[in-house]
Amino acid sequence: MNDRFGRTITYLRLSLTERCTLKCSYCRAGEGVCPKKSELAKEEFLRIARAFAEVGVKKVRLTGGEPMLRSDLLSIISGIRAIPQIEEITMTTNGQHLPGMSCALKEAGLDRLNISVDSLKPERYHEITGGGSLSRVLTGIEEAFAAGFSTLKLNVVLLRGENDDETGNFIALTKERAVSVRFIEYMPLGEIDHANLRVTGAEILQKYPQLIHVVPSYRGQPARDFQMPGHIGRVGLIDPVSHRFCADCNRVRVMSDGMVRPCLGSNEEFSLKEALEQEGDGALHAVIARAIALKPESHCFDDGFSAQKTMSRIGG
Ligand code: 5AD
Repeated sequence: MNDRFGRTITYLRLSLTERCTLKCSYCRAGEGVCPKKSELAKEEFLRIARAFAEVGVKKVRLTGGEPMLRSDLLSIISGIRAIPQIEEITMTTNGQHLPGMSCALKEAGLDRLNISVDSLKPERYHEITGGGSLSRVLTGIEEAFAAGFSTLKLNVVLLRGENDDETGNFIALTKERAVSVRFIEYMPLGEIDHANLRVTGAEILQKYPQLIHVVPSYRGQPARDFQMPGHIGRVGLIDPVSHRFCADCNRVRVMSDGMVRPCLGSNEEFSLKEALEQEGDGALHAVIARAIALKPESHCFDDGFSAQKTMSRIGG
């Protein structure tokens, strides 16, 4: 389905829960772990995924909060796998619960994994994430490779003065491994925009002029891809604030409480909850069509915008 600006919506990001075991400084500082509240049931998520597939969605990303906290995660994945129109299922995780799970995820039908890892220094990782274990993430990454996830994406939110001295170590990971390390610009999601934390893609390019631009794998890809000469993996720059990519945006988000958010950087939301109570899918399709039609042309990150909700609530 096209929105009113001619963008074809093919990508659904489904947040399975707001709960998270980590408390990353830039995401939910002081907020603590949310109680399990108003989370949709597996069947509701599957019904939503099917309805989006019927209007052209081909790719689903499972996100959160931390999606691996859902005990029914594997059956949600296999349920989505059974939808004929869905060509790709991916998941973004903090990696804390990955050890021991990669094979099962693969068997359930997960195609790709994005793993958040904001530091390669154990104490610093622990500090930024409010208690996370770096060794668990690294074990998870090794196991994911062994299970056949051949191209992992590692998400690094760069925070000025906190972890931006580690870009070289992250880039070094791409030397012999088919990983894509993605440096993400801090976005103003939450009450306050800590703009001073933001490290732009332009700064990375200035620091590493030897990075070679690589053609994007698909239209609408938020990352600009680069490669160090001789390295196997890639370096992606995701800088939504300083380098807008809204014109090619192909996605919508559904949050774990059944709200659709057509744009991360705009607070407009549409509820699927009432439509889910109806027997047929007519009402569901009507809300989806309205949400897609009213997708904003562009985010408002650089307009003194406050997202009101952190990424853990909206779905990363
Ligand atoms: N700005 C940029 N990235 C963020 N993430 C969470 N909050 C923010 C923010 N305010 C990241 C997570 C994860 C990805 C889904 O989004 O660290 O890697």
